[in-house]
Amino acid sequence: MRRLILAAASVAALAVAGPASAQSPIVIKFSHVVAANTPKGAAAEKFRELAEKYTDGKVKVEIYPNSTLYKDKEELEALQLGAVQMLAPSNSKFGPIGVREFEVFDLPYILPDLKTLRKVTDGPLGTRLLKLLDSKGMTGLAYWDNGFKQMSANKKLLEPADYKGLKFRIQSSKVLEAQFRALGAIPQVMAFSDVYQALQTGVVDGQENTWSNIYTQKMHEVQKYITTTNHGYIGYVVVVNKKFWDGLPADIRDELTRAMKEATEFGNSASAQDNEEALEAVKKTGKSEILSLTPEQDEAMRKAMMPVYKEVASRVGQPLIDEFLKETGRSPMN
Ligand code: LMR
Repeated sequence: MRRLILAAASVAALAVAGPASAQSPIVIKFSHVVAANTPKGAAAEKFRELAEKYTDGKVKVEIYPNSTLYKDKEELEALQLGAVQMLAPSNSKFGPIGVREFEVFDLPYILPDLKTLRKVTDGPLGTRLLKLLDSKGMTGLAYWDNGFKQMSANKKLLEPADYKGLKFRIQSSKVLEAQFRALGAIPQVMAFSDVYQALQTGVVDGQENTWSNIYTQKMHEVQKYITTTNHGYIGYVVVVNKKFWDGLPADIRDELTRAMKEATEFGNSASAQDNEEALEAVKKTGKSEILSLTPEQDEAMRKAMMPVYKEVASRVGQPLIDEFLKETGRSPMN
């Protein structure tokens, strides 16, 4: 695969370095792993529309959804090598390239709602986190929402004991690994594109994801129960290859920055609604039973996951966790 990515990267490099002509627009290949009708898919489409409009067609954005070009791990390599120019991986996927700080967003119950999230991403902490990506050959442009995660399996998940011994698919985040271990479950890192089949064939017993991802990947067809837990958050960092970005004519970069800002506002104002609609759509299929927790069960889940904060403190950084909690002004226990 790496050889393929490298070959694609050299073609892309030639395209960027070649003589500019009025006929050849600057191409931004934007690869992502979810369906087009998701918060990320819709924001990417909005960015495409605005970027092409604001640059008078001097920029062409090609979107490759649903892992059609690259899967999770490969897409980050492809971006670093210049085979694609733009991605929006979830916060949970930056650990393997050496940026562990984004895993702070994975801490259980760290965000009570999207309004609180905005305080972090729109504030100095959010800006500082984006800066960490510079040393990895990428520039962080924006934070895009998906929403809050729910738990699913073929057995009812109502209290911590129900998780014991079950295998759960996780994204490549050590915080998520610690979260499932805290519940006595067995976490297994897996690319997003492989989840449906893994659930169907029993390679894993369960998973956590947003309503939008559950519905668009049809996970509800292969999971008997989904529990509304809202125990964690999935959001994205829009990243662009740094060399490509820095090499753009300043006026083009300005227009793309404008397009990104507006696409972000558009996407983030629609994400909650998207997830609501996906929940309704899952309900309508009648394929999964949707469970909710009593206040006591909710409290027991929070309590069971609290040790994760201590466990990952040295990895994610205690000062960062403290600063994050200060920004949210909330305790994860309520
Ligand atoms: C996942 O891997 O579950 C998600 O990060 C997929 C996505 O991009 O929303």
